[in-house]
Amino acid sequence: MQFVSAKGAQLPALGVGTWALSGRSCYDAVRTALAIGYRHIDTAELYDNEAEVGAAIHDSGVKRAEIFVTTKVPMGELRAPQIRRNVEQSLKRLGSDYVDLLLIHWPSRREPLAETLGAFAEARAKGQTRFIGVSNFTVALLREAIEVHRADIVCNQVEYHPYLSQRPVLAALARYGLFLTAYSPLGRGRVAGDRDLVRIGQAYGKTPSQVALRWLLDQPNVAAIPKSSSRAHLAANFAIFDFALSAADHAVLDAKRGKTRLVDPVGWAPAWDPA
Ligand SMILES: NC(=O)c1ccc[n+]([C@@H]2O[C@H](COP(=O)([O-])OP(=O)(O)OC[C@H]3O[C@@H](n4cnc5c(N)ncnc54)[C@H](OP(=O)(O)O)[C@@H]3O)[C@@H](O)[C@H]2O)c1
Repeated sequence: MQFVSAKGAQLPALGVGTWALSGRSCYDAVRTALAIGYRHIDTAELYDNEAEVGAAIHDSGVKRAEIFVTTKVPMGELRAPQIRRNVEQSLKRLGSDYVDLLLIHWPSRREPLAETLGAFAEARAKGQTRFIGVSNFTVALLREAIEVHRADIVCNQVEYHPYLSQRPVLAALARYGLFLTAYSPLGRGRVAGDRDLVRIGQAYGKTPSQVALRWLLDQPNVAAIPKSSSRAHLAANFAIFDFALSAADHAVLDAKRGKTRLVDPVGWAPAWDPA
């Protein structure tokens, strides 16, 4: 396993996503992932599956301290009293007295960022989370959080895959010494049928999804959290530590990066940085 680190946080660069997994399928996916060797799990209050994630961790026999768990507080719940209540409920559902990383799920236009970050810092001081971070933040929002509000965040979780350039955000995170967690790293499954990735993968005996994940994790301080409900896909996505992409293949993937944003909720998303 490879690790990413920032400001004292160190976590497996490859984690497992759980969006859209619920009930038994979420429990099974997380149990399977832990049995394969994943030690980094991404959930959120909005996913309505924290209880299943918690139960899977509990039943796995893997020590809680060996697993890096991220959860997120949703937009609309980002005032301080709501955050206090929210975090307690998330911990209860997860069956743990802490998470490793607590994220602002989406930036809010209505809830003051200073108040939100203050309540996040308070949760950290109380030991409810080891680290705090943000998700779906633009460069301007990162600047506000860090330079205006002096937030001690470790990462920004954003959409990142071979079809979306995140160059401005990557550059800002490098400047601040933070890591980027790539969500939808497989382009929500689209990479599997990509002819360039199929061709590159053939040279290594790897699938297009494995090529995409390898490319992401080859970048400094980038983590990725592919989601799968399939044992075979979970295992394949984990089998990316035994090959290295050539510089020429990297260049092909770098050049592919475009403006295809798959997660862009109307009325909710911030004014994204130009891709
Ligand atoms: N912070 C945010 O706002 C935010 C937004 C979106 C997502 N996320 C997080 O990021 C995680 C991952 O993103 P995502 O779920 O949107 O998309 P993704 O991981 O890019 O893609 C998931 C899709 O790819 C398929 N897949 C997985 N492994 C595969 C493989 N080896 N070969 C072929 N297909 C494969 C899955 O199908 P199977 O299940 O059949 O394998 C599923 O349909 C989420 O689960 C969530 O935890 C966060």
